[in-house]
Amino acid sequence: MKDRNCFYVTTPIYYVNDIPHIGHAYTTVAADVLARFWRLMGKEVFFLTGTDEHGQKVEQAAQRKGLSPKEHADIMVKNFQHLWKELNISNNAFIRTTDEEHKTIVQELLSELWKKGEIVKRTYTGWYCIPDERFWTEKELVDGKCPDCGRAVEYISEDNYFFLMSRYQERLIRHIEDNPYYILPETRKNEVLGFLKNQPLGDLCISRPKSRLSWGIELPFDRDYVTYVWFDALVNYYSATKYLAPQGIGWWPADHHLIGKDILMTHAVYWSTMLMALELPLPGNIFAHGWWTVEGKKMSKSLGNVVDPFQVIKEFGVDQFRYFLLREVPFGLDGDFSKDAMIQRINTDLANDLGNLLQRTLSMITKYFNGLIPEPEDIEKDLKTIAEGALEKIERNLTYLSFQKVLEEIWQIVGAANKYIDSSQPWALAKDPSKLGRLRTVLYSAAEALRFTGYYLMPFMPGASRRLLEQMGITPSNPNIKEEARWGRLKPGTVIKKIEPLFPRIIPTPARLRRL
Ligand code: MSP
Repeated sequence: MKDRNCFYVTTPIYYVNDIPHIGHAYTTVAADVLARFWRLMGKEVFFLTGTDEHGQKVEQAAQRKGLSPKEHADIMVKNFQHLWKELNISNNAFIRTTDEEHKTIVQELLSELWKKGEIVKRTYTGWYCIPDERFWTEKELVDGKCPDCGRAVEYISEDNYFFLMSRYQERLIRHIEDNPYYILPETRKNEVLGFLKNQPLGDLCISRPKSRLSWGIELPFDRDYVTYVWFDALVNYYSATKYLAPQGIGWWPADHHLIGKDILMTHAVYWSTMLMALELPLPGNIFAHGWWTVEGKKMSKSLGNVVDPFQVIKEFGVDQFRYFLLREVPFGLDGDFSKDAMIQRINTDLANDLGNLLQRTLSMITKYFNGLIPEPEDIEKDLKTIAEGALEKIERNLTYLSFQKVLEEIWQIVGAANKYIDSSQPWALAKDPSKLGRLRTVLYSAAEALRFTGYYLMPFMPGASRRLLEQMGITPSNPNIKEEARWGRLKPGTVIKKIEPLFPRIIPTPARLRRL
């Protein structure tokens, strides 16, 4: 049984044959924001990411380098682990499908399905795309080629093992229809339903003969075969809860599987039916996000425009990159990455709106109150309402993974505080000794709005939000956001620290405008 005070979120496990790009960074940052938010809300969180290390693509990439697949994976996995450190990702575990424990669990589940008669042996005759490791029916081919990658397919005839996925077609349709939250966004849900309702669901070939591919998990009931890579990979979400998560807690089912739109069918159809056959509960939600193009073009190695996240972090900063990814486009839609768009976001939202608010509030506190947070004379009700009321909206929007709306919500506070300073004119109040009480209220309230902003931004920009709070003399340690979201928690008399620009403005230079 799932523990209610637990939250479990996953990213796809990434193929080790590739080096990390913006797409990998995107899903992982999004999952990190959820993990950090629910921790701040007092939940016990298990956040899992990892690598997919079996299959033909990995085997071939290793061969090209003259390495064994495992040696190759051991080298490549470091790129991902390094990137997650650089991106400040707070995953609780990192799964590799070559872990012995994972392999054992995959074999146990296969044995269970075999014994239950959910897997059968059949002769398959038909079309096979070697690079994609997929079988296709004659009807599915496009001009006689693989409908997915456009490459040539081979006609093969071989004995294989099939998971009887077709048995679950009706039940899956019902599950998706009865649980509108199961597949999001809604357009993706409709795509899956369209697919399921318009044709009979086939069975899934879950084996590959070792004579053709040896790099995989051996079938426990036939040593001449290895497991199809997707069957092995999908199981990671479950197997990790058995050996990588803290034990004694009901982690399964996951709350969210975050994935890109291209791998929706494998998750929504293969994984869901596998779980049904295993009589395990289905995850709470599968969320398929959109894809990034780069300056309007598809990102691809052949175009040489693959965005290297290490490079973006180096040039613009990690928090700036995290912010951009989730602010620029609604999660679920496609988006476009360009340096111009990134500079625009940094200079407008971060440097101008937020950075300025911090800078001017703290400078005035330094100037008029010797760097001590003043005691307010009144409660600023409007600001209080906006700041306190934001938490509920943040929670609601994050439940639907509307990261962009959450950031807009937080910027409402920033905007209101900036406006409040402009209209209250503390610099004018400071000239009139009879207005000292009002001046104290104004600067206290602006600082208090900043404190809320700092806490609310923690999941998105963990480094910058901490620095923001530290400049205000606050050292957050293991905070609970519900407690922090109360107006008046900022203690008068707190000594503010050295003021430094949080987000330096970026001056576009020709070098900067060169493609990443
Ligand atoms: N190994 C499988 C997943 C198995 S999960 C049980 C896999 N790996 S991958 O490394 O190819 O996956 C990459 C992820 O990156 C996918 O979610 C994919 O949608 C995402 N992206 C790849 N290119 C992308 C963009 N241009 N933009 C956004 N995301 C992109 O698939």
